[in-house]
Amino acid sequence: MADASSPIGVFDSGLGGLTVASAIMDALPHERIVYLGDTARVPYGTRSPRTVLRYARACARRLQAHDIKLLVIACNTVSAVAVDMLRVELDMPVLGVIGPGARAGIAASVNGRVGVIATRGTVASGAYGRELAGLSSKAELFPQAAPLLVPLAEEGWIDGAVPSEVVQHYLEPLAAAGVDTLILGCTHYPLLVGVIREVAARVLSADVRVVDSAHATATELQALLVSRGLARTEGPGDLRIMVTDLPGRFAEVASRFLGRDIDESAVEQIDL
Ligand code: DGL
Repeated sequence: MADASSPIGVFDSGLGGLTVASAIMDALPHERIVYLGDTARVPYGTRSPRTVLRYARACARRLQAHDIKLLVIACNTVSAVAVDMLRVELDMPVLGVIGPGARAGIAASVNGRVGVIATRGTVASGAYGRELAGLSSKAELFPQAAPLLVPLAEEGWIDGAVPSEVVQHYLEPLAAAGVDTLILGCTHYPLLVGVIREVAARVLSADVRVVDSAHATATELQALLVSRGLARTEGPGDLRIMVTDLPGRFAEVASRFLGRDIDESAVEQIDL
């Protein structure tokens, strides 16, 4: 039976979800995390909801075998299509990133006009719009798919002319919408937050607020753990990483998303 000392399970389509793991480690330094990155099948953002559901179920079941106390779906694309299914199927609390991201977005917005950039799968699901509509009858969501930001983040090409032009290309369609808040609706985008802020201030409005769903999720996770009596309040935290493939440049890319060095002895390759 899982209790406060049990680990938190976190999964993503690949390594991008380490941005969420990193935010959790910062907010909850005593927690133990088991992370699963489905690096053999990334990206999920271009796949059909049916396939994403199948992959999500496999990831969740693998983490369940680690006696986790709670499951965090770090991937926006999975959160967009599979959170309800996993909540029904798993006998534990499940937290996706879309609810926390949408709540942080609406809290930050003054005029209720909120933009979100995300993968094509997340945009097509309409999940951010549904979440926002449930929070405020006046809120309006303006979604924009920004697929090229994923490979740019993976390459570490996070500043300079090329990312700036790509971000501008994606934000220009939102310029006429009058959004005062922009949600980063993809695991990879926090790496590009510097260039996104700079371009958003130029293209959208000088005081646009940029909301990162990774941090919003860590904040809600903390409250959820406390409310369920599942918070681990002492002892060192740790991070164990499982991946379904060990791609080239693994340590470099993973450390970039995690924002700290990877302990490669804590990385295990598994089959799903
Ligand atoms: N993790 C995905 C997300 O947050 C981005 C990468 C992918 O397409 O799998 O939507």
